[in-house]
Amino acid sequence: MADKYEQVIELAKRRGFLWNSFELYGGTAGFYDYGPLGAMLKRRVENIWRDIFVINEGYYEIEAPTIGIEDIFIASGHVGGFSDPLTECQKCNEAFRADHLVKDIMDNPDTLSADELTDVINKNSVKCPECGGKLGKVYEFNLMFKTSIGPGGKRAGYLRPETAQGMFVDFPRLVKFYRDRLPFGATQIGKAYRNEISPRQGVIRLREFTQAEAEIFIDPRDKTHPGFREIGDIILNLYSREGQDAGESTRMQIKEAVEKGIIAHEFLGYCLARTYQFLVRVGVSPDKLRFRQHMSDEMAHYAADCWDAEIESERFGWVEVVGIADRTDYDLKAHAKQSETELTVYIPYDKPKKVERFIVKPNMGILGPKFKGKAGKIASALKALKPQELAGDVIRLEIDGEPITIEKDTVTYESVSEEVHGETIIPHVIEPSFGIDRITYSLLEHSYYEEEAKEEGEDEETRIVLRLPPEVAPVQAAVLPLLTREELIKPANEIVKNLRKAGILVSFDDSGTIGRRYRRNDEIGTPYSITVDYDTLKDGTVTIRDRDTMKQVRAAMSGIAENIYDMIYRGKSFEDAGKKV
Ligand code: ATP
Ligand code: GLY
Repeated sequence: MADKYEQVIELAKRRGFLWNSFELYGGTAGFYDYGPLGAMLKRRVENIWRDIFVINEGYYEIEAPTIGIEDIFIASGHVGGFSDPLTECQKCNEAFRADHLVKDIMDNPDTLSADELTDVINKNSVKCPECGGKLGKVYEFNLMFKTSIGPGGKRAGYLRPETAQGMFVDFPRLVKFYRDRLPFGATQIGKAYRNEISPRQGVIRLREFTQAEAEIFIDPRDKTHPGFREIGDIILNLYSREGQDAGESTRMQIKEAVEKGIIAHEFLGYCLARTYQFLVRVGVSPDKLRFRQHMSDEMAHYAADCWDAEIESERFGWVEVVGIADRTDYDLKAHAKQSETELTVYIPYDKPKKVERFIVKPNMGILGPKFKGKAGKIASALKALKPQELAGDVIRLEIDGEPITIEKDTVTYESVSEEVHGETIIPHVIEPSFGIDRITYSLLEHSYYEEEAKEEGEDEETRIVLRLPPEVAPVQAAVLPLLTREELIKPANEIVKNLRKAGILVSFDDSGTIGRRYRRNDEIGTPYSITVDYDTLKDGTVTIRDRDTMKQVRAAMSGIAENIYDMIYRGKSFEDAGKKV
């Protein structure tokens, strides 16, 4: 029997949600097209994300190029270290993620070096899963797609492996946009590219995928969040480091988890809450959702703490769909160094502070002639000295690895009392990073049901239904004239027109029995079907059918667009939409 993944993918292909890319030419692993319904579904998921993070949190969206210059990825660490361990079969030449091949032999194989993985493979006689051949030495394979910018291949570029870097690179502009006030955030929804070694997990592991990321710049001395009280009571399924050691997750209120130090601080807790609200709103089952903390040896090179939102899938088990990381000041420091530009924010104090400042003044009239080209560096080193470092008879420095001795009379120094009005800091970054494709697949799987049909007049066959939240369903209403007769088609067209005016994506379907038409709409998740019949001509009412319960109510044709809109977007109940029939 087909498993859930096969059932969902069969439906997704047949009804135009997901198609293998380049099918005409045989396809290539790691690429999927979204068909007409899939593209709309994905767009609706992205728009709910925008509603939460852009509109409600106020983290404006930017759009940076998907190709980046090499400097960016040298600074970010991707050129040096964004790799997965690869081993090739020496018989059939298939490539594999070495850590994936040994995951049943040991815990956390992704923490091992290439040599250590080679050892585990050899000692345990792990063979090629395709042909049983011998596996070669493991080496690190960089996952970025490299390209060149301009003719002649002189300037290296890379397809971005995450959207995040766009926000870091634009930091100086963003600081001005937000008028130097922390915290502020910027977001991006867009394509990211990773040359995954062996993408055998369908839509879960793609080589081109969509990320929705927020980079939130905060004052490192204040990791509280003004909205924390509103979300503190939310209960999450937490799979903390200690929980993983003990092999069990715990349901806990976010405020308790922060109080106990399980979640490091309020800001992180707040991001976990917003992530939970987003995932549940788009249709992920709360009972198949958990937050897993990264083990300390598992974290990305930039992270101090990281929680993944994981969704349970029947075939793939727990799959990471969101990574929520405290990236500290890693990225801003790295880009400041690479670009030789200060990436800081000036924070004014409420009241000026009095501070004692120690000032060293090098005598350039002596240093210049004596040290020539090195004099500038020596002066800078002298200015950075503390009082105790000037206590001896001479001053000892090391400049470019060379020891240098300076006479005391080369500098004068003093302590002055100053009024300081603020200070310059490097913000820390909290990053929720969402994989939109994995989320879109997961909500298809969680909303997929097969059940026996119960409606009158229908054949006794299995009903496939996608119980998608109405605001996520690609087609939100179907208009079905009971018969293909002019007198019914005319009012049906009128309803279609009004629904479209209200911004509702509607399908018109007049072919086949009414039962078949309901089924066609059930399996693409259309939440409401509106049937026009002969009573419509008599009393101006239509039937609205609810996809999930298959119940029907009669409602006036005149206000139908508003009625449907209110059910989709304003929480109006189906019962309130009309009279039961
Ligand atoms: P994995 O361990 O599964 O490869 P990751 O830890 O590399 O994931 P991140 O680097 O944290 O993932 O990326 C952030 C998010 O982007 C992930 O939570 C996931 O939803 C998404 N993502 C990452 N790689 C892929 C991919 N190859 N295909 C689809 N989505 C992806
Ligand atoms: N920006 C986090 C990631 O893609 O890994």
